[in-house]
Amino acid sequence: MKKILLIVGSDDGAKYEPLIQSLSDEKTAISTCSYRNLSFYIDGNNTAITLFSTGEDIKEFSKVIVLATSAFHRQNYIFSALACYCRRYGVTMLDDSFSNTDGKLYALWRFWESKIPVAKTVFGPVGFMVQKLDALGLPCILKSVQGTKGRDNYLIHSESELRQIIEQNPDTRFVLQNFIPNEGDWRIVLVNFEPKLAIYRSSRGKDFRNNTSLGGEATLVPLDQVSPQILQLAISATKSLDIKIAGADILAEKGTGDLTVLEVNRTPQLISGSFIDAKIDVLKKLIQY
Ligand SMILES: Nc1ncnc2c1ncn2[C@@H]1O[C@H](COP(=O)(O)OP(=O)(O)O)[C@@H](O)[C@H]1O
Ligand SMILES: [Mg+2]
Repeated sequence: MKKILLIVGSDDGAKYEPLIQSLSDEKTAISTCSYRNLSFYIDGNNTAITLFSTGEDIKEFSKVIVLATSAFHRQNYIFSALACYCRRYGVTMLDDSFSNTDGKLYALWRFWESKIPVAKTVFGPVGFMVQKLDALGLPCILKSVQGTKGRDNYLIHSESELRQIIEQNPDTRFVLQNFIPNEGDWRIVLVNFEPKLAIYRSSRGKDFRNNTSLGGEATLVPLDQVSPQILQLAISATKSLDIKIAGADILAEKGTGDLTVLEVNRTPQLISGSFIDAKIDVLKKLIQY
């Protein structure tokens, strides 16, 4: 029996019954699911995208057809992320070429597809996030898929706090991650996939975020003093998103030193923020080259 999934806009299953009846036959089982029902989880071997309502894994389907959207649908980044999973498991996805790849959800799945280490990451219905709290541990980080400069980013200490913040922000979609203890993080500026500058940023315990926009202290570190693993990870992450002027944020876990990529910024602060002279120098070389 071939399983086919139609991704639709509404949670009202009954609405699609006639459609399912007319498309099914003895060899084909058709299901529908709202895109709001898709539950995304990155965590090593437990990584999966499932349907929250039934627990079915997307990789059980032979074909996924997206009917929920138009070319300019705001939520298309969700399908761009889903496409990474479908590619890995040979699930045919139509359409899998949405051009909205903005934000953290797609980037994290693209990193996963490229075998780049990221924090454990949850995206989907609030009930799914709650289910995963035990696996993530507390505190954890809840951050907007469209966040920048440390905004819309919360340290979560309990299930009720998680529910409250999601309820208070009905227009924001969030990813939930385990909080990785750290003393700071790295911003590597790359041009054409070559590291040009390394800035170490630390809130020095004043905030759980290290963004310089929020007062994190920044130190310019000569590239030859940065570990080659960090630079290589920045290169791989930037290549996986094909970003030619990039700012890669990399976190080293306190104690273990394990590296994870938080994000790669497409418009890193090159003409603002810290160390403008060094950044202008990078731009100057780029322009003269
Ligand atoms: N999973 C995490 N564990 C620990 N700290 C995190 C985590 N995710 C984000 N942070 C902190 O929040 C800051 C901002 O997160 P980031 O993902 O880079 O988003 P933004 O686009 O807002 O810069 C990071 O520089 C880091 O200090
Ligand atoms: Mg950042």
